[in-house]
Amino acid sequence: MAGTLLEIQGMKRYYEMVSGTVKALDGVDISISEGERIILLGPSGSGKTTLLNCVAALDSPTAGDYSFEGAAVPRDAPEQMTTFRRDNIGYVFQFFNLLQDLTVLENILLIQELSGGRDEKRARELLALVGLEAEVDRFPTEISGGQQQRVAIARSLAKSPKLLLGDELTGNLDSKTSAMVMEVLVKACEAEGITTIFVTHDESLTQYATRVIRLDSGKILSDENV
Ligand SMILES: Nc1ncnc2c1ncn2[C@@H]1O[C@H](COP(=O)(O)OP(=O)(O)O)[C@@H](O)[C@H]1O
Ligand SMILES: [Mg+2]
Repeated sequence: MAGTLLEIQGMKRYYEMVSGTVKALDGVDISISEGERIILLGPSGSGKTTLLNCVAALDSPTAGDYSFEGAAVPRDAPEQMTTFRRDNIGYVFQFFNLLQDLTVLENILLIQELSGGRDEKRARELLALVGLEAEVDRFPTEISGGQQQRVAIARSLAKSPKLLLGDELTGNLDSKTSAMVMEVLVKACEAEGITTIFVTHDESLTQYATRVIRLDSGKILSDENV
């Protein structure tokens, strides 16, 4: 049986505003095992990004406990949070944030250099995994949006994260391109043994999940294996 990767208990994230308290997360419990492919669904403002940012140690919850591989996730401590994130977490965003002056291959090599070591063979393998072997020497402006997102995916896999997070990662793509990106992503994460949590408001992405968690007003509405 796969081990528990992430354990979240009673997670709250409140914002104190002049107008009152905003309860972005209001008591969330989730236990995630290695190898799960989770889609976190919810309307705009339901707390999806807040939850993902806490899991990534980009933000700290107001209350609750959470652990990763049995150890507490660091919070309210920027340096430890950065180290935790660097060692464990990959993140794919809606906007691809590729460096425009670097080729596809160079975008991957740069991330490798920043996170341990350049390895061109592995960089080319990752680009092949997302179907971009023919585009390695092109610049981001010379490939399509779907291809750019696949570069961003290869980049997020370059440091072999244990957990890959995506926030509306197909939000900028048409439905056909998003399907292609999701298929490539699922295949790549299975090949690399990476657990995933993807946040979206797009119901059609649930077909790529092993588990669908629905969030509304900072609370879990449902949590089902599919
Ligand atoms: N920095 C912030 N300050 C105040 N309120 C915030 C902040 N970030 C998010 N919120 C509020 O928290 C709630 C959840 O936001 P968010 O997690 O971004 O939702 P989602 O990603 O599901 O659209 C919303 O009501 C939002 O306005
Ligand atoms: Mg969001």
